[in-house]
Amino acid sequence: HTIEWSPDAAEKGGYDHYMLKEIFEQPTALRQAIAGRIDPIEGRVELEGLSIPDGFLEGVDEIQFVACGTSYHACLYAKQLMEEFADVRATVEFASEYAVGSGRNPERTLVVGVSQSGETADTLRALRMASRVGIRTLGVTNTVGSTMARECDDALYIRAGPEIGVAATKTFASQVIVLAMFALTVADVRGELDPRAARKLLENLQDLPGAVQSVLDNNDAIEEVADAYAGGEAFFFIGRRLGGPVALEGALKLKEISYDHAEGFPAGELKHGPLALVTEETPVLAILTDGTRPDETRNNVKEVQSRGAPVITLAAEGYQSDDEVGFDVPDLGLLEPLVANVYLQLFAYHVADSKGRAIDRPRNLAKSVTVE
Ligand code: G6P
Repeated sequence: HTIEWSPDAAEKGGYDHYMLKEIFEQPTALRQAIAGRIDPIEGRVELEGLSIPDGFLEGVDEIQFVACGTSYHACLYAKQLMEEFADVRATVEFASEYAVGSGRNPERTLVVGVSQSGETADTLRALRMASRVGIRTLGVTNTVGSTMARECDDALYIRAGPEIGVAATKTFASQVIVLAMFALTVADVRGELDPRAARKLLENLQDLPGAVQSVLDNNDAIEEVADAYAGGEAFFFIGRRLGGPVALEGALKLKEISYDHAEGFPAGELKHGPLALVTEETPVLAILTDGTRPDETRNNVKEVQSRGAPVITLAAEGYQSDDEVGFDVPDLGLLEPLVANVYLQLFAYHVADSKGRAIDRPRNLAKSVTVE
């Protein structure tokens, strides 16, 4: 018995692709993101290295998130947490579309740029535009010493470790939870922190790596389902509220690496157009967890089932149904959609793998896009 060895295979740690390796690194990445930053007993967060002057966050009346791709989806998730916990208006814009906009006081605005690489040209440009009119900037990145980290007034690191696969995976959840910790920080400073809600979120943060591990342990079952549905003509992903960004991210992963047509929608929008595309040949993946209005989404699931579409659910206890293919999401409050996302990452990976795609280097795409 001989073992084939190559430096490439060794770097992938025995996985066939960096993408799969990085999906499996999530429990570690998530532990690194929270290490030394949270105190669930006290319900407090301590983010190191921020130089935001006293009084600034108290006076902010809008937090604008800017990002591209997967990082943009992380911002959509974070915006909702920010509004929920800190009771401050938060907006999200594609970095390539960013304009300071009228009716804003630069001194009472904070722009948060989010970028795994810290080098995405569109995101850097948006941050520079904000900076030029006197808006304070915070960069949230995985890359120490990146242009973003150097140019922003403050930098916050997600500590996910290097990500090589072109399609971002492990960095998504790390971005969301670092932004969640930042939301608690903002809430605390503004006197909006609800201690019970904060403690629950911090407990959920501590339990997240284990919950993600339980999904990874289900990899074989997800592969089976992915192989069974890989022939779909198109794939739709639906979810509400915190499930919305995850639906978009699930669709993005699938289209990036499998080249299948995939779209994500807020579940309620389905009937306003996309439903015309739903047939027996279009699998629908639905997120039914805490923070996603699962009862309402269940109605949308019924709508597509009645048109013959195969449905795969990522559902928390109480929202599963015996008549459909489904994967269980453990009890984790507002972080449940992040766990559902790991199923979607594995689903995309296995669909692409079954088609023999170049998973780590999809056609036409780059890990970091340094042109506008
Ligand atoms: C590229 C990558 C995506 C990534 C996006 C933003 O398009 O292919 O996976 O989400 O850039 O990258 P960033 O480094 O700014 O997070």
